[in-house]
Amino acid sequence: MKHVISVRQFEDKKFIEDIFAEAARLKGLSPSEYPKSLQNKVVATLFYEPSTRTRLSFETATLKLGGQVISTENAGETSSNVKGETLEDTIRTINGYADAIVLRHPALGSAELAARYSAVPIVNAGDGGGDHPTQALLDLFTILECKKDVNDLKIGLVGDLMNGRAIHSLAELLGLYKPEIYCIAPPSLQLPANYLDGFRKNAIDFKQLDTWESVIDELDVIYIPRVQKERFDSLEEYEKFRDSFIVNAEAMKRIKKDAIIMSPLPRVTEIAPEIDNDPRAVYFEQARNGLYVRMALLQALFV
Ligand code: CP
Repeated sequence: MKHVISVRQFEDKKFIEDIFAEAARLKGLSPSEYPKSLQNKVVATLFYEPSTRTRLSFETATLKLGGQVISTENAGETSSNVKGETLEDTIRTINGYADAIVLRHPALGSAELAARYSAVPIVNAGDGGGDHPTQALLDLFTILECKKDVNDLKIGLVGDLMNGRAIHSLAELLGLYKPEIYCIAPPSLQLPANYLDGFRKNAIDFKQLDTWESVIDELDVIYIPRVQKERFDSLEEYEKFRDSFIVNAEAMKRIKKDAIIMSPLPRVTEIAPEIDNDPRAVYFEQARNGLYVRMALLQALFV
């Protein structure tokens, strides 16, 4: 594996299973037992958009495996991008310093562009409203950890399905399995047609709904990202949709006792903090799993 650009490259379930087996193994180790498999490797985290989980978990993963990190956490303002440097030139330059580049950029297709100019692996940490492949991997890892299998699960993708790159990558990755998928969103925030075509191509049973009333008590997984404020044309438009779906204590009374509530985080209003201590609320464990899945993935890049 040279670059990690999109989940479309993970056609081989065996590759995913190997990553997950290694992530589970690493999760079971104490920090002193971590292999130093990234010794003498430098990982650059080049972020043009804000991040808490993705950047810090990649950096932590690198450090725990004995590697070193160089970082620009606000590259749009603190790198030579400000002076007019192109992404291509920035990537070529960092090739001289680092052994892998983890890139988050607001432009769709930016990771693919970067990969064309990079001799070292590019990991897509989010390209605009496009893909977020490592998020999808940690999401799937969490579903498997909690539910053991994905096939036959009723999975509700809820809220802003139009703009969320985590949702897009997860929708594609689920195409490798046979869950029932419920796309629950206001009509203008429904999952784009190309992802629905992907479900059809993979013979995935899916339904589009604009309320969760008929299925909330049947879902095994409720995956609810925030409404992506930064992708709306106006604040007014964003506020119209922000609170379309809220998982709160009231909603939890109707949700199955063994369901799980997932989110790529950060959350805004769509998950009420009052449910955080409910064992079905797995989103912080999901974020923690990102560390182990990214450790396993970084190791795979350097094999
Ligand atoms: N889930 C996710 O991508 O979180 P961050 O934006 O904090 O990295």
